Amino acid sequence: MGSVIIGSGKSLPKRTVTNDELGAIVDTSDEWIVPRTGIHTRQIALEETCTDLGAEAALRALGQTEGGWQREEGALDPASLDLIICPTLTADTHFPSEAARIRERIGAVNAVCYDMSCACSGCVYGISTADLIMAGSAFDRAQAEAAGRGPRRNVVRRVLVVAAERLSRLVDWEDRATCILFGDGAGAVVLEWREDEEGVLSSYMENSDDTARTLWCDSAFCARETPFAAGNEGVEERDNLDPYMRMAGQAVFKFATAAMMRCTEEALARAGLTIDDVTLFTPHQANERIIRYAAKKMDLPMERFQVIIDHVGNVSGASALIALNEALCEGKLKRGDIACMTAFGGGLTAGSCVLKI
Ligand code: COA
Repeated sequence: MGSVIIGSGKSLPKRTVTNDELGAIVDTSDEWIVPRTGIHTRQIALEETCTDLGAEAALRALGQTEGGWQREEGALDPASLDLIICPTLTADTHFPSEAARIRERIGAVNAVCYDMSCACSGCVYGISTADLIMAGSAFDRAQAEAAGRGPRRNVVRRVLVVAAERLSRLVDWEDRATCILFGDGAGAVVLEWREDEEGVLSSYMENSDDTARTLWCDSAFCARETPFAAGNEGVEERDNLDPYMRMAGQAVFKFATAAMMRCTEEALARAGLTIDDVTLFTPHQANERIIRYAAKKMDLPMERFQVIIDHVGNVSGASALIALNEALCEGKLKRGDIACMTAFGGGLTAGSCVLKI
């Protein structure tokens, strides 16, 4: 039994931004960006909202619109979703949640919804918690059946995990150290609990304190004062708040490479598998050099890793879901294959899950 991925989708905004275009607004160049990051272009949302991107990826994952991947024939009914989890840092509204907005847009009338704030680990945290909840629900139902009563908790058999990001709105477009790295987009999977099949074989999530503020972004609303502070004569905007994403590049690089190895090894060990059992690694895409580092450490050719950062940049929690989608659509992953998804990000968060397709 297990949580099986039965659909996958992605959505990218229309506008492509090249490295040369960035070179026109900050002191950088294609020659600097490509060897250090592997990024050639990224997609930036001009008109598309987070909800637009998330809903499009979700509808593709459900097979309601063209362009997604379905494990089995036939579209999935949005009303069959029990839960929508949306990992995001850039929801269009504080509330309703981004998940609730996507629910409304796609007609998932029976789904309970919430957002998840775990930065670039959103893909792994989303899939892992969906799996935990479905396993808990299956246990609850089995107990209920044995006792001849109804379930005591929500019945969750089908979950949409949809990560949607417009990081272009968190980025300081005058900061060349960060603005070159990020892009906008969404990735989605539909997971279903199956009694007779395996899906998520293992998962591992971890957090560590970001005491040195290596990856940080204040909430813009924290700039607002209340009228109650001593000496405050009215509601004023605080001017000491930085609303942009900040990153200590080298420290994050160090954390990321270590986390990639640690989490991959832990998730594989939990699944009772080794690196050789993995058909394709679909990691978070923060920097191609981080993926190359992992490949070298594991003594694997780069072909065993799905690399999409060249054309999308870092799309936070959506990155690895987009990578998984592209691998499925390209036929690099087929029924019975094993994928390993590892991610790391602000929090500091990190994790990995092993997926049987
Ligand atoms: N163009 C040109 N020069 C740049 C630049 C840019 N876009 N960004 C930084 N530089 C400069 C710096 O100012 C610095 O100049 P100095 O030596 O005169 O001070 C120099 O390049 C080296 O900067 P550094 O930060 O040491 O570069 P780096 O080799 O570490 O590469 C990153 C920077 C961001 C690409 C790299 O650190 C990285 O990928 N870190 C991890 C990022 C990540 O994973 N983030 C997301 C986690 S989810």
